[in-house]
Amino acid sequence: MKIRKFRRSDLPILCEFQKENLEINFPDLPKNIKRFKRNLLEWSKKEPEGIKIVESEGRVIGYIWLNTKEHYGLVRHLFVMKEKRGKGIGRKLMKIAEDYFKDKNKNKVRLTVTLSNEKLVGFYKKLGYKGKRLIMERVIE
Ligand SMILES: CC(C)(COP(=O)(O)OP(=O)(O)OC[C@H]1O[C@@H](n2cnc3c(N)ncnc32)[C@H](O)[C@@H]1OP(=O)(O)O)[C@@H](O)C(=O)NCCC(=O)NCCS
Repeated sequence: MKIRKFRRSDLPILCEFQKENLEINFPDLPKNIKRFKRNLLEWSKKEPEGIKIVESEGRVIGYIWLNTKEHYGLVRHLFVMKEKRGKGIGRKLMKIAEDYFKDKNKNKVRLTVTLSNEKLVGFYKKLGYKGKRLIMERVIE
């Protein structure tokens, strides 16, 4: 397994990952993959070292997308493909994220999770993350 920088040729597989991510975390929203693609390309120029690809046997199996903010480090996306989950890759990527932000003199890492994604909440809690704010929503018709 190796971690490397993002390449433009990674776009199709990352878009596939994003489709699954949207399905899990935002099942009621339209799958706006075009916007994801646009953002990814934009950020691959703005903060190219912030997008880290996990490759195993020549295949992309996951990635993490980091963004350095003024007062904290933001994890924009984290994804490990289904067959490779539960093997410590997610934990390793979060350690890479924390080291990356420490290097940039940030002392906080922030991320957003969908509360109904209990697996994900469990994963981050295990890694020592705590809820700080709650987005509230009500369907109005
Ligand atoms: C979340 C995700 C990145 C985790 O990656 P992973 O490689 O499967 O996680 P790891 O194997 O590194 O697990 C790390 C730790 O979290 C724990 N963990 C994982 N799921 C858990 C859960 N549901 N509840 C409690 N702990 C959990 C593991 O047991 C492990 O602990 P250990 O190291 O003490 O054994 C991966 O499951 C994923 O990509 N999910 C779908 C996409 C998604 O929702 N991404 C986030 C959107 S931004």
